Amino acid sequence: MENLINEYQSVAIEDVKVWFKAGTLKDFPSNRGGCIKYKNKQIAVFNFERRNEWYACQNACPHKMEMVLSRGMTGSADGVPKIACPMHKKTFSLVDGSNLNGEEYSIATYPVKVVDEEVFVGFLE
Ligand code: FES
Repeated sequence: MENLINEYQSVAIEDVKVWFKAGTLKDFPSNRGGCIKYKNKQIAVFNFERRNEWYACQNACPHKMEMVLSRGMTGSADGVPKIACPMHKKTFSLVDGSNLNGEEYSIATYPVKVVDEEVFVGFLE
């Protein structure tokens, strides 16, 4: 198996140093993903309207490091919100980024908050 380096690192809400304005509510379709750029990172942002929750993760799928996760299919596995990569259907938890197929690679996730119709994603710097 290829060993691709995943340079993304998850951010816990208590560690956020920068809340980056990703857009407004109308920029993100319901129950689908949108892609934003922060510094040199592409970040997928999901408006999980049917759960009334928002999630963000790296846009690069760690399977082949394709920039595709924002175009993936959202869903739930045992109550855990997940994203399925559109390329080969690997699935990841949007809560902790874990690989739900039991493989070792995972994704980085980021906190999201919505304030007055504006959507913010949290980063370390
Ligand atoms: S590139 Fe995402 S599952 Fe293969």
